[in-house]
Amino acid sequence: MLFHSVSRLKGEVSVPGDKSISHRSVMLGSIAKGTTEITNYLQGADCLSTIACFRRMGISIENNGSTVLVHGNGLRGLKAPGSAPLDCGNSGTTTRLISGILAPQNFSVTLTGDASIQKRPMKRVIEPLSQMGADITSVKGNGCAPLAIHGKPLHGIHYISPVASAQVKSAILLAGLYAEGETRVTEPSISRNHTELMLKGFGADVRTEGKDAIVSQARELHSAKLDVPGDISSAAFFLAAGLMVPGSEILLKNVGINPTRDGILQVCRQMGGDVTILRQWEEGGEPAADILVRHSALSGTVIQGEIIPTLIDELPVIAAMACLAKGETVIRDAAELKVKESNRIEVMVKNLSAMGADVTGTEDGMVIRGGRPLHGAVIDSFLDHRIAMTFAVAALCAEGTTEIRGAECVNISYPDFYKDLARLSGQISL
Ligand code: S3P
Repeated sequence: MLFHSVSRLKGEVSVPGDKSISHRSVMLGSIAKGTTEITNYLQGADCLSTIACFRRMGISIENNGSTVLVHGNGLRGLKAPGSAPLDCGNSGTTTRLISGILAPQNFSVTLTGDASIQKRPMKRVIEPLSQMGADITSVKGNGCAPLAIHGKPLHGIHYISPVASAQVKSAILLAGLYAEGETRVTEPSISRNHTELMLKGFGADVRTEGKDAIVSQARELHSAKLDVPGDISSAAFFLAAGLMVPGSEILLKNVGINPTRDGILQVCRQMGGDVTILRQWEEGGEPAADILVRHSALSGTVIQGEIIPTLIDELPVIAAMACLAKGETVIRDAAELKVKESNRIEVMVKNLSAMGADVTGTEDGMVIRGGRPLHGAVIDSFLDHRIAMTFAVAALCAEGTTEIRGAECVNISYPDFYKDLARLSGQISL
């Protein structure tokens, strides 16, 4: 797909529903009793993988392309999916969270996914779930999917997680619903808390104490009604584009701004970006807002420590923004970038360098010296949706033509991304 610079971006956009919240809503709806109604469900490939997995386990799920009705059968209502593996596609959230739900069932199942999923680390869930009594193994013995799970009774543990990962925390908390006693997870810094918030909404006994999340064994969860806010990780591409392209002014409607996710807003402001919250409300414990962004002169910054988990998925587009900023931007404590849908340190350095940026990869981040003009290049997305969208944004500020290979992978989290970007730039298509 080919991209060129644009003169400005103007207008309104409602980004699709939050990916993390969408996954969790179908998972909890499937193990609750009764019908859960979910509006603004993300229709990206990852969240459709979650629906497909629960359908395979006998859950009736209606999806009209926006609203999803999940007819849950209760905590013990899942059925064995048969001998074919459950396919989690490209979705790390599906693979890791579902492991926590499957470990305590009374059947066996194999979980698999695409080539990228089969390379991502699963030991981080295998280890704590095994401590809870689970029988879960990496079929190829490499710590990755496929995973063979033979359902077993579980008991609660106190797990001190070496990584700040909501996927790890959530897998343990979901298993904890079935585990005897109390299950506690301590994180090095707090990761996104959607599971904790939503568990409360479905009637679980869950609480947090500082960096600890604690859940008790549940008898049953009740169904719920949820309206999924727009995904701040998708809005991030328009926040960045609005700040980067001269003359731009974009109104982002209905964006989730949960404080465990809003690091991008802080960084935009830290870099001198004109970002205003116009209206704010709350839905099911999840805050949302309309956000106005205007083109700004940006300056470099340092991003490290506890803010990292709150913007981990936004770091690629922040790195692109840093290329246009005055001075140096340093990203530290973000080694997790190496185990996302692609190695996002390696891929960002390679692709930004191809566009003429001055960027160096480090063990746990990047150093970007801003101010060099970007030029068009051939970009490999490595089939990573956030890389494709990052370079579509960078291309808007680059001289000449940028070709993104594998651009269609945006269907993982934002199927209409290019359409929305084209509309804001006043073009029919880019
Ligand atoms: C997610 C958590 C994050 C994030 C991913 C979605 C979630 O991963 O990168 O896109 O929904 O829990 P980690 O938990 O591995 O950091």
